[in-house]
Amino acid sequence: MKKHARPLPDVPPDFPRPLLHALHLLTRDGALNADARRKLKQIEHLLTLLTPAVTDVLQRFADPQFVDAGAGKAYLGLMLAQKWLRGVDKGRLFAVESRADLAARAETIARDAGLERVTFVPTTIEAAPLPERLHLVCALHACDTATDDALALAIRRGADYVAVVPCCQAEVARLLAAQGPGDPIRTEAVAPLYRHAWHRREFGAHLTNVIRALTLEAHGYQVTVTELAGWEHSLKNELILGRRVHRENRPARARLDELLAAFGVRPALVRLLDASVETAAASSTSEGTLEHPESP
Ligand SMILES: C[S@@+](CC[C@H](N)C(=O)[O-])C[C@H]1O[C@@H](n2cnc3c(N)ncnc32)[C@H](O)[C@@H]1O
Repeated sequence: MKKHARPLPDVPPDFPRPLLHALHLLTRDGALNADARRKLKQIEHLLTLLTPAVTDVLQRFADPQFVDAGAGKAYLGLMLAQKWLRGVDKGRLFAVESRADLAARAETIARDAGLERVTFVPTTIEAAPLPERLHLVCALHACDTATDDALALAIRRGADYVAVVPCCQAEVARLLAAQGPGDPIRTEAVAPLYRHAWHRREFGAHLTNVIRALTLEAHGYQVTVTELAGWEHSLKNELILGRRVHRENRPARARLDELLAAFGVRPALVRLLDASVETAAASSTSEGTLEHPESP
């Protein structure tokens, strides 16, 4: 038996070998190295967790629009398109990546693999020209505040689903470190939580994700926070998954405002959405309606 024909138990059947080769996830002789195995595990778990969302929008909408934000080499976007958008007559995945070289390389791979329902957008998430109506926005390890750009995109466009696995998060730790004696964070009881730089980084990352989840809830999303894959596959392992079920959620908004006031921080996502509200107020635009609007 040829070496490259060996069965690879770690490769899910949905992932065809030529595509894995093109993405450099398989070595030249068809093996999986440790990094590739970790990456595949993350993608496989994420696709499994996204299955209800993708199935739902494919069933309910005539032409669902998906976004892979901060796509990098577009492992996630290409696998999603391979699994759900090959050989169908609807749906499109937009892979948004600010590094033009990565986007161009992934575009060639998509073309060679016959993945026609993928469009590459080589710019930032904020600047990306995307359809007004989005159905699922995902971001796998989009760096620091790029995750917030993806969340803001989903919220502003009223995406039915959003899924982010945040990456490195330095922003809130910086905001905490910059606070002075008069700030709420300096209260004696809670100050030890982030006095040391290491704790500040960990606590800042945790607070960031709590604020992200609560922000989604405030905007009417039902939120699940869960582990993506085992810690052996990635240290950046928290999946925040949202399904839009209400137009807004005022109790969650109040909890968010209280939390922000208690810690005296306004991280990127909050500032981005504040800016949208100001822009919307200035242009007096009105919000669209949901298919199944409910009030919590
Ligand atoms: C850590 S990589 C992850 C890539 C990919 N999602 C994956 O999991 O393999 C993050 C990617 O996000 C891109 N990126 C960072 N900020 C961005 C932004 N504001 N808009 C679009 N892409 C961004 C980077 O260039 C990088 O390729």
